[in-house]
Amino acid sequence: MPEQSKDWWRTAVIYQIYPRSFADSNGDGIGDLPGITARLDHLVELGVDALWLSPFYPSPQADAGYDVSDYRDVDPLFGRLDDADKLLAAARERGLRVIVDLVPNHTSSEHPWFKQALAAGPGSPERARYIFRTHKPNNWESTFGGPAWTQVPDGEWYLHLFDAGQPDLNWDHPEVRAEFRDILRFWLDRGVDGFRVDVAHGLIKQADLADWHYPVEPLTGPATEGIRPPMWDQDAVHDVYRDWRRVLEEYPGERVLVAEAWVSPAERLAAYVRPDEMHQAFNFEYLEAAWTAAAQHEVITRSLAANGTVGAPTTWVLSNHDVLRHASRLGLPIGTMRPRGIGVGDPQPDLVLGLRRARAATLLMLALPGSAYLYQGEELGLPEHTTMPDEERQDPMFRRTNGEQKGRDGCRVPIPWQSDAPSYGFGPTNASWLPQPANWAGYALDRQRGVPGSTYEMYRAALRLRAQQGLGPGSLTWAEGPEGVLAFRNGDVYVLTNFGETPASLPAGARPLISSEELHADGTVPTDVTVWAVV
Ligand code: GLC
Ligand code: CA
Repeated sequence: MPEQSKDWWRTAVIYQIYPRSFADSNGDGIGDLPGITARLDHLVELGVDALWLSPFYPSPQADAGYDVSDYRDVDPLFGRLDDADKLLAAARERGLRVIVDLVPNHTSSEHPWFKQALAAGPGSPERARYIFRTHKPNNWESTFGGPAWTQVPDGEWYLHLFDAGQPDLNWDHPEVRAEFRDILRFWLDRGVDGFRVDVAHGLIKQADLADWHYPVEPLTGPATEGIRPPMWDQDAVHDVYRDWRRVLEEYPGERVLVAEAWVSPAERLAAYVRPDEMHQAFNFEYLEAAWTAAAQHEVITRSLAANGTVGAPTTWVLSNHDVLRHASRLGLPIGTMRPRGIGVGDPQPDLVLGLRRARAATLLMLALPGSAYLYQGEELGLPEHTTMPDEERQDPMFRRTNGEQKGRDGCRVPIPWQSDAPSYGFGPTNASWLPQPANWAGYALDRQRGVPGSTYEMYRAALRLRAQQGLGPGSLTWAEGPEGVLAFRNGDVYVLTNFGETPASLPAGARPLISSEELHADGTVPTDVTVWAVV
């Protein structure tokens, strides 16, 4: 490994690919690995350092692949194992690193282990790999709605914090631990640069499986008041990551672990990125922070401080396949609790305002020191699909809540590449596993490429400048600003976001490098605009 690649992850910009919805090579309406390989140059042109692939493993697709039935292969929907190898090689040729998804909290109910557990019956060693009980031991609810326990024909109950098709593994079992060490090695041997660890805060449950009387939503729960949910963020989970870190360190280069852990407060999240554990943890408190100068100031300060105590970078993120796309989220009234999906008949986001704020938010995020994740399509300013007909919805969350939560399909719609092609260039046919809105031509890549002021060109320019100015490895110093304005310095760059109602002035002599919208003629910064300048 070349010297400069050491610690690459501390400052990397990583692009999340949701394989089903990125590019479809064979026209069946489902994105696939050959489709991704054929489009890798897009990521090079955009200027990211790495990509993270959501699951592509064999799966009954009860939760879009987060229900894995074989951890060492590729689902025929997405291609073959050989296509994964080709993708890895093509990425390596282009200097792009690749992170794959690892789903250790649960398997699919079609995984051989679970099938064996059902066949072997109560009290068997096969059942000990999962969490079976003779009686339903508590009142826990599934994250997707409905009970977290399902009864099997012989009368026993098994735990699933998500869908019934996703039985939770028993991480106190040595075979479970050994199996996942081996799965890590399988993909490390194939050359992956790391793993995004799904539900990293869920593997260990409190031994007494105590009842829980608060919402299952980890970040909105009472965790901040010190009341700890018995199903999330147990101290013993850290042993698992110390163990995995040792496995990764046997491999050349810097292979990384990134935690998907909906844990608060920031100090508890920082525990996942102590020097002998994981490398990164998504900062979801940041993702959820309100669009006000005060809220952003607080969450940024707190995250940097918490991670600073353990010597870890902060991992910023605004969108992913589980949350409302930020171009829509920021078009809802400020302070709205993030809805889990939006449908016809729900209050609709203001798309113009949402995109304006999303561009400002992205420019603010990309100026922060640390690493950042982008979600496919955000570089196009893509909004959530907020009017998808209910009968098209596939997220188990929709079904398990009887439609009360619309679910996450709206952020998972196949992305538009070409304005005048079938499926907007997603694939060679019109097929698309989720319907694309009729007005997406204007967001297509071909309409934005080379167009000054387009969201795509703003992302490209920002990523280039971020690298040139060394913002990732930099450090943040807050600057004084009027009320409603957030301002800081990172190295030579002065960054200002105007959350206020009146135009904000840059310091005397400041020379703007980039802004999320045009500045006023007198050089002041309009509302909901971020600017980077050299002073
Ligand atoms: C994570 C994934 C989400 C999935 C869940 C269960 O939160 O990001 O998409 O539904 O875990 O695996
Ligand atoms: Ca396909």
